[in-house]
Amino acid sequence: MDKQINVHITGTGHAVPENILTNDDLSRIVDTNDEWITTRTGIKQRHIAEPHQKNSDFASAACLQAMADANCAPEEIDFIFMGTVTGDLIFPSTACRVQENIGAVNATAMDLSAACAGWIFGISVATACLRMGQGRKALVVGSEVLSRMMNWEDRSTCVLFGDGAGAVVLEVKDEEGGVLGIATHTDGRRIEMLNCPKGGTADPVTPEILAAKENKIHMKGNDVFKYAVRSMAGACREVLDQAQLTLDDIDLFIPHQANTRIISALASRLNVSEDKLLVNIQEYGNTSAASVPIGLNEARRSGRIKPGDHVLVAAFGGGFAWGAALFRF
Ligand code: ACO
Repeated sequence: MDKQINVHITGTGHAVPENILTNDDLSRIVDTNDEWITTRTGIKQRHIAEPHQKNSDFASAACLQAMADANCAPEEIDFIFMGTVTGDLIFPSTACRVQENIGAVNATAMDLSAACAGWIFGISVATACLRMGQGRKALVVGSEVLSRMMNWEDRSTCVLFGDGAGAVVLEVKDEEGGVLGIATHTDGRRIEMLNCPKGGTADPVTPEILAAKENKIHMKGNDVFKYAVRSMAGACREVLDQAQLTLDDIDLFIPHQANTRIISALASRLNVSEDKLLVNIQEYGNTSAASVPIGLNEARRSGRIKPGDHVLVAAFGGGFAWGAALFRF
């Protein structure tokens, strides 16, 4: 059998808007309060893009940081895979705008739509392309400006989300390790539970749709909650099986940051202790596809990930779409 090509994360970066919206700020916009948001979600604040800032601005900044970290020139990048559901334009892809911004003239760039799981889906596709020998270096970025898709009159959703981007450089290397396992799944029967119901080509925007805010995020939070825990736990077990490892081998677990109660339920289902769990939702809220790579970058920069560490990540979002990945650094 041919030797497996090893694909490693060699650089990470993230970028968020400077502008911060606290729970107290939100309590002046909708009927909510810091106590409800903190106890039900764990969120204390979120970063929100200013009107002149675009998704591609944050994605490009995160990619430049990841490339600097990996000591990699823009011309060396063969692919840009961008997980996002809040692209600058309906088409073409925001990844193409990022390509232009960072000068990755030799890259093939594309967006992947898998909501909060978009970055993990990007890791899956990038790893496959690099293992096929189609290139040696890929940028995988998750980036969102969900604030533009919020109904700021709906307290059950507008308190949850934030804007930002996280990126990694994935690179073919001779060393053992890198990506050890990946699982991705979708369930199209659950589209109604979490979506923007109108405003696409099926129901193009009309004054009535705008007035009813049907082009904004709608979510059946309780139903999503149950699926999220069960599905992410299953995907985590899958990637551990692929790598023939157990949870005892994991040094750090970075779950999607949607709600501290989901994170706690998932950690207890998998029996992951608190010291191995990364939680930064208090600072960013749910940044969808950016949530896991932002956590990954923070963990690397703070020294929480050391060479040889096993890092497990998982995400769940609209589609439903979910997945997990396992890395050895
Ligand atoms: N402030 C105050 N009260 C509120 C707020 C608020 N911001 N939001 C809702 N409430 C009220 C409700 O009206 C309800 O009041 P009632 O009992 O009088 O009817 C009460 O609080 C309880 O509401 P629930 O919806 O049952 O609250 P729950 O504990 O389920 O928390 C939440 C809601 C935070 C949305 C939770 O269900 C959740 O996190 N769900 C999963 C979200 C998720 O994982 N999304 C996936 C990724 S997102 C993506 O893919 C883009």
